Amino acid sequence: MVLESPQWGGFHPFVREFEESFAAYQHSAFGISTFNGTVSLELALDVLEIGAGDEVIVPAISFISTATAVSRVGAVPVFVDIEPYSFNIDPRRVLDAITPQTRAIIAVHFGGALCDVDELGRICRDHELQLIEDAAHAHGSAWNGKRAGSFGVFGSFSFQNGKVLCAGEGGMLVTSNQHLAEHARSVANQGRIPGRSFYEHHRIGTNFRLTAFQAAVLLAQFERLPGQIETRTHNAALLKDQLSDLPEIVWQQVPASVTESSHYLLLGRLVRARITRDEFQRKLAAAGVPCTPFYPHTLYDNPVYQMEKTCRVAPCPIAEECVRDAFWFPHRLLLAGEETITSAAKAIRSALRK
Ligand SMILES: Cc1ncc(COP(=O)(O)O)c(C=O)c1O
Repeated sequence: MVLESPQWGGFHPFVREFEESFAAYQHSAFGISTFNGTVSLELALDVLEIGAGDEVIVPAISFISTATAVSRVGAVPVFVDIEPYSFNIDPRRVLDAITPQTRAIIAVHFGGALCDVDELGRICRDHELQLIEDAAHAHGSAWNGKRAGSFGVFGSFSFQNGKVLCAGEGGMLVTSNQHLAEHARSVANQGRIPGRSFYEHHRIGTNFRLTAFQAAVLLAQFERLPGQIETRTHNAALLKDQLSDLPEIVWQQVPASVTESSHYLLLGRLVRARITRDEFQRKLAAAGVPCTPFYPHTLYDNPVYQMEKTCRVAPCPIAEECVRDAFWFPHRLLLAGEETITSAAKAIRSALRK
């Protein structure tokens, strides 16, 4: 339908339809699509007028965009530690890192399990900070029944190739604040405002628009998302159950308040095992089980943040331990049939025997 239409770009009705459906699914009033989940974070910071002289608290463990979005608007990312087994930003470490320059916290719902949004929300209220949820992993995830992206002033999603809802590339900001939504949409659409001429630009905007082709793919994929989440949830429980006697694996600890998880990643840490995490991963790869040996370093250990004065770093012993002993299985493993899960469990068990 898109192919045959005169509109392949962001003004095709499919784009708006996807924005409305996805935002509603995430329990937010407005969705502003973008061409990826990196620029959607930059857009959120831009709309909140966060820039030079400001600090934004981010977790030491995430994909690089969580931090570079802050740097690209001219603010300073402040890296704080994660919790030992949830892999999410530690609210106590957030409190320690607040200064008069702090304007916002970017909370990443790592692997699909929500951060403690109650505690982060309280900190934000007490210290007059903005909470931005980087929900790139958390399509469909919920905290006490309320979905990711609806707790902060903005929630940012990615539809990049590896995500549970994907169109190769794509992103979206969700919010329930109408004023901020209008502002974000205007920036993402060349400073235009609704009802005015196409060549009238009211602010310095840019073009972050998603294409109609991507929206068409996303609308189709979106219908399958709830069923896929169910399958992954079932298979994650099955795999963990089959390995429950193994003391060497400590799975991601997910608070009871996480009532739904996308299961983007099935995360664990290898503790007191007879082999190293890297040997474990290599043995699994040889057995055909996809496993990623976590991130190779914390965000602040990236060359970009080794340069002087580009960031502030709080002590992050947990993040540094996880770099050595954590791993994840990708969501595609959890979409497999039960036989594949059972044979993956066998391969994991045998990999742990030296
Ligand atoms: C936590 C997190 N934030 C942001 C992004 C950036 O999304 P995109 O690749 O769509 O720019 C990713 C993507 O991989 C991510 O994992």
